[in-house]
Amino acid sequence: MPRISHLYFKTATILFLAGIIMGLHMGISGDHSAYPAHAHLNLLGWVSCAIFGSYFALNPAKAGGRLPIIQFAIYTIGVVVMIVGLYLMALGNPAMDALVGIGSFIVLAGVLLFTAIVFSRDA
Ligand code: HEM
Ligand code: HEM
Repeated sequence: MPRISHLYFKTATILFLAGIIMGLHMGISGDHSAYPAHAHLNLLGWVSCAIFGSYFALNPAKAGGRLPIIQFAIYTIGVVVMIVGLYLMALGNPAMDALVGIGSFIVLAGVLLFTAIVFSRDA
């Protein structure tokens, strides 16, 4: 499996564990207010990272060079910033919506770069 796929799957499992722990914490405490952070952590973190990793494993011709690493860095930084912002908002800091906005646009940049990789010609 290409290195970038390993990196994506390692990231996906760590974010999956964090997402499940957040879900269990909500379930056990009875306070579900952090559900948007939980939902997006699991979906942008576990599900989407696993899909990115699978794509590069299925298309090793696209997995080499610097571009996939740059795409990985931008995307994962965006997810972390967005989720931290969503969690802090859920804890009662409405001003953190700025952090969510910044994180969301970084995620968008990562997804645009991934789209460019998918549409690029095979190396
Ligand atoms: C042990 C694992 C998990 C636990 C204990 C858990 C727990 C929860 C809880 C307590 C809520 C709030 C429900 C509500 O108030 O309506 C929730 C919402 C949600 N969870 Fe999880 N969850 C788990 C795993 C996952 C995974 C793996 C995903 C996605 C891949 C996921 C996606 C979502 C989504 C999308 C919502 C929001 C649903 C809505 O809008 O009503 N969860 N989860
Ligand atoms: C930068 C990317 C994204 C942004 C800015 C975003 C934004 C939002 C917003 C504003 C809501 C409504 C929240 C509410 O009413 O409380 C929402 C809900 C939701 N989004 Fe996203 N979203 C993004 C990516 C995704 C992705 C990639 C998925 C799935 C793979 C997803 C799945 C969901 C689900 C299941 C809900 C309903 C559960 C919830 O309210 O948290 N989102 N999203």
